[in-house]
Amino acid sequence: MDEKSAKKRKILVTSALPYANGSIHIGHLVEYIQTDIWVRFQKLRGNECRYMCADDTHGTPIMISANRQGITPEELVGRMHAEHSRDFSDFLVEFDNYYTTNSEENRYFAELIYNRLKDRGHIDVREIEQAWCPHDKMFLPDRMIRGTCPRCQAADQYGDSCEVCSATYNPTDLKDARCSLCGTAPLTKSSQHYFFKLGDFAGRLQEWLAEGPVQEEMRNKLGEWFASGLQDWDISRDAPYFGFRIPGTEDKYFYVWLDAPIGYMASTRNWCERNGRSFDEFWLDPGSEIVHFIGKDIVYFHTLFWPAMLMGADFRPPNRVYVHGFLTVNGQKMSKSRGTFLSARQYLQHLDPEYLRYYYACKLTARVEDIDLNLSDFVARVNADLGNQFANLGSRVIAFLHKKLDGRLGKLTGDGLALVESLEKAADEIAELYEGREYSRAMKRITALAHDANQYVANAAPWSAVKDNPEEARNILTAAVNAFALLNVFLTPVMPRMSQRVEKLLGRTALSWDSVHERLEDRPILPFESVFTKAADEAVEALLQSGMQTAAPAGPAAPATPEEPPVVVPPQSEEIPFDQFAKVDLRVAKIVEAKGVDGADKLVELLIDLGQLGRRTIFAGIKKTHKPEDLVGRQIIVVANLAPRKMKFGTSHGMLLAASSEGTGVYLAGLETGARPGQRIS
Ligand code: MSP
Ligand code: ZN
Repeated sequence: MDEKSAKKRKILVTSALPYANGSIHIGHLVEYIQTDIWVRFQKLRGNECRYMCADDTHGTPIMISANRQGITPEELVGRMHAEHSRDFSDFLVEFDNYYTTNSEENRYFAELIYNRLKDRGHIDVREIEQAWCPHDKMFLPDRMIRGTCPRCQAADQYGDSCEVCSATYNPTDLKDARCSLCGTAPLTKSSQHYFFKLGDFAGRLQEWLAEGPVQEEMRNKLGEWFASGLQDWDISRDAPYFGFRIPGTEDKYFYVWLDAPIGYMASTRNWCERNGRSFDEFWLDPGSEIVHFIGKDIVYFHTLFWPAMLMGADFRPPNRVYVHGFLTVNGQKMSKSRGTFLSARQYLQHLDPEYLRYYYACKLTARVEDIDLNLSDFVARVNADLGNQFANLGSRVIAFLHKKLDGRLGKLTGDGLALVESLEKAADEIAELYEGREYSRAMKRITALAHDANQYVANAAPWSAVKDNPEEARNILTAAVNAFALLNVFLTPVMPRMSQRVEKLLGRTALSWDSVHERLEDRPILPFESVFTKAADEAVEALLQSGMQTAAPAGPAAPATPEEPPVVVPPQSEEIPFDQFAKVDLRVAKIVEAKGVDGADKLVELLIDLGQLGRRTIFAGIKKTHKPEDLVGRQIIVVANLAPRKMKFGTSHGMLLAASSEGTGVYLAGLETGARPGQRIS
């Protein structure tokens, strides 16, 4: 190796900072797993690679969400930080620092960058007109205005775009606009806003882009943006706002997207201070690399605003911005009603995190295309590659070595040596695939090599060789164990936990990519212990069921067993604000037909009449206490706007209310005579 290629790189890596007002879901994980694999690979290669991230804490939604819960934004942000940290660490996503944008370091850099931009004339101040709610006394972001779409007349659409006809428009074009918090019609009010003059950087941005920091396919998109002209960017928001006040103003705050990417710096600074390292080494020294991983929805921020801010404030722009596509599940957008909008935590309650790491690795490429989690393919893929090819190779040969040959390795000779050499030769190619984020191809190559190794063992048949020539059998097994060890190095970035188990078995500790050149000969190895447990189809089923359950709006209890809808609304220990309660549409319903469901000992299928809302089918777990024929004609109370829930026996379009205690007594909520089907209960 020449001196240049032996030189260790210094790389600062980031993933986008997740919003602090929501839980981490399996879509997010595409990004954090993609980045973590790359970081682990770099570390394994011996490069100094530091993985920085943080929660993105500022903005109106977080402020409102905290208000609703009756806590301060700081408290909310604190809770979410703990939750996110746990989720990531349980998915083996290993940050060097997971910080927060609501920190003094971040305020420092936000002010520093802003002041430098302002001193150099890149900030403009102008009056703009905006929707303002006289009741909540605040300016309303587009997303907090609801009204009728000016194009297709669909009711209850956002202020910036219609979800029915996809039209985009200005909030002022919306018909009967309302504040989404209180329902008041907003007024128009003007206020001073601060703008970053992005256009000042058009030339420098073009030069930077010519150096190739983004994927080829992003170039076109960027070309379009340049062609349509770079608009000034509004970086201020009026009070009340949860964020950093703009220096020199009374009641203006930095827009969350200004201080969010600066959070990459704040996290680095915080880590440097705690580890006696210098911030400048990473953010100023041109010999180090800055690499951002992001999703395709936030490209504008990372390839235009962010590099321009850095340039204007004497920092260097990132070396690479790697963009990935979005997750689909079974070919469709993640969806609450299909049960595929799954949180990281829900997944962890049913399945091993390394399955998902491996599966995503099998799907990820360097391109921006979306990746699909196909749930039936998922189990098959993971079990076939990791179970049948990889783990099986190790377990067969190591178990046999212990049973017949005292668990001692012999020598690499002949075909066995050739096999090991071919794997060793593949190391550079696999390293290049990891480096280029072609994980899918890397996984295919690794699985093919595992297949070769299994084929070798099958052909060499140590089980028969051992009778006449035990030393030859030992050497065959030695080749297989060496192949297993090599494959394990290749899989380490994706499967860190499994890989550690294997290393323990082999008696190694400090794993590095260079371990591929290590030969394991003439030494004992530990008896085989399982390093991989196969994924079960039932676990995926259970996961989907849990996804269906969370599809129902918050409030009513989750059903006791998957095929049964709840019949009770237990006392909620947590208070909910009135508007949340008001969303639950409780109605009087009359039971028209009732029949027991065959194969379910508690379920009754009911056809109910909801007056002007028509008739529909619901399921209720009340068979043990109520004869179907006695139910016909009775009036009950139902939640009429519950999202339909698919169950084993059909779809339930609502839920009835009843009192119940531990299985036995179930009492339907009653009404005085005179109530009419369809009548709203409030
Ligand atoms: N807070 C901003 C990022 C600020 S970075 C200075 C944000 N947060 S996010 O929580 O919405 O998304 C975090 C990252 O996850 C983004 O890169 C986003 O593209 C990615 N993903 C969110 N949902 C995703 C999928 N369904 N699929 C793949 N990636 C997704 O944006
Ligand atoms: Zn309002």
